[in-house]
Amino acid sequence: TRVAILISGGGSNMLRLVQDMQAGGYAKPVLVASNDPQAAGLARAAALGVAVAAVDHRGFGRDRAAFEAELLRPLLAANPDVLCLAGFMRVLTPDSVRRFAGRMLNIHPSLLPKYPGLHTHQRALDAGDTAAGCTVHQVTAELDAGPVLGQAVVPVLPDDTADTLSARVLVQEHRLYPLVLRRFVAGQREPVFLDCNQ
Ligand code: GRF
Repeated sequence: TRVAILISGGGSNMLRLVQDMQAGGYAKPVLVASNDPQAAGLARAAALGVAVAAVDHRGFGRDRAAFEAELLRPLLAANPDVLCLAGFMRVLTPDSVRRFAGRMLNIHPSLLPKYPGLHTHQRALDAGDTAAGCTVHQVTAELDAGPVLGQAVVPVLPDDTADTLSARVLVQEHRLYPLVLRRFVAGQREPVFLDCNQ
């Protein structure tokens, strides 16, 4: 199974996915691409021997379709079976999503359906939630709303800030995403739920 990964920044989730595929041999990371040529994750992917590409979305103004047409070039050339969004901060048009329907995953730092969109940790804190976490889901045209493939739950602590909570959730993202990718590649679609009391 050929897997491509889209990132926008540091790529810590991408790194775990690539390392898990290289260790487990169950899939091959064929491309890591970013909307930001300066994304630090690109060098980290290249250091692991993975092909990389970047298309600067800022060159396209508000024309999302034109940006995605450029991004799709290296992506389609890599001929992936599965596309993982990992810290990818652009909303894809329905046309691009349709190209990968049923084989595009995303990790979102909340317990969906709660808090789709941005600033998820601050919203959980503001709501007084006692639990938070992350979700891996199949990407559909509706933002952060596709079928859930896995979730990991963490406690919210009384003195948590968005930073301390996001750090605790990120650790679980790194556990959850590789597990879900392995299951997805094996054809499993039942969601997996990770609990952790740390
Ligand atoms: C993190 O906030 C993570 O919660 C979300 O995207 C951000 C960057 O992740 N998934 P990464 O380190 O680039 O994978």
